[in-house]
Amino acid sequence: MAKDEKTSGDGGTTLLILKGVTKIYGEGDAAVHALRGIDLTIHQGEFVAIMGPSGSGKSTAMNMVGCLDVPTDGTILLEGQDIAELEESDLAQIRGQNIGFIFQQFNLIPGLTALENVMLPMVFQGYSSDERFERATELLEKMELGNRMDHLPSELSGGQQQRVAIARALCNDPDIILADEPTGNVDSKMGRDIMTMLSKLHKEGKTIIMVTHDDHLATYAKRTVYLLDGAVVDRLKYKENHALEAKKEKKKDTKKGEKS
Ligand SMILES: Nc1ncnc2c1ncn2[C@@H]1O[C@H](COP(=O)(O)OP(=O)(O)OP(=O)(O)O)[C@@H](O)[C@H]1O
Ligand SMILES: [Mg+2]
Repeated sequence: MAKDEKTSGDGGTTLLILKGVTKIYGEGDAAVHALRGIDLTIHQGEFVAIMGPSGSGKSTAMNMVGCLDVPTDGTILLEGQDIAELEESDLAQIRGQNIGFIFQQFNLIPGLTALENVMLPMVFQGYSSDERFERATELLEKMELGNRMDHLPSELSGGQQQRVAIARALCNDPDIILADEPTGNVDSKMGRDIMTMLSKLHKEGKTIIMVTHDDHLATYAKRTVYLLDGAVVDRLKYKENHALEAKKEKKKDTKKGEKS
């Protein structure tokens, strides 16, 4: 790898490079261009926010960053290694050990209790069952779910499921945390607590990449990447689009008001 790709301007080590990453879902007339050639570099220990309107490709980009999906075109280098050259079993090991995912839709296993959901990823990392139990209990208590550990996801509120998902993301003490709208389903106090926790993890040296719709939450991050229609754009272009969309919404609301 070229030297300039290995270190950033401030000396931080490059963790991840996306080069011309394209993602097309489906084929022919049904094809959806979710990502249109994204270039993105993430350094170790960064806290990056990804912002963009609904459908702009944020979750798809997170799936790429987390090596959960393969691009239709383009290259992803994780610590200099082209992930297309790795076996699926190696990738699964990297994901399990190094990356904690907080998904937009939680992705909890419906037939397992909160405790079992948090304990599960540790099975593959060689923890004893006592260690798994202790660590999962500790994380769930931190998430104020000590009295809900034996409940199934269907017996929990959206915010509670979100917190189980966060505890699960932290169970293997990953270096990288990918959070897709981590505060999307919680009240404002819990939202602040989650952001404080992510900031603390960032201070401890973790790399955090967080998708958010919320300008205020993005300020917790040290850098924001803006997506529009599957492409990375600068802040100005994003803001212009945002203002335009808000104007359209206002017009729609006024029309609705006139009708009723
Ligand atoms: N599995 C899929 N099959 C087909 N199209 C998909 C799939 N996943 C996402 N898409 C489409 O790709 C585009 C980008 O979707 P994505 O989920 O990345 O958006 P997003 O920015 O995360 O939106 P939101 O803020 O609503 O979560 C959208 O047009 C979406 O409909
Ligand atoms: Mg999404």
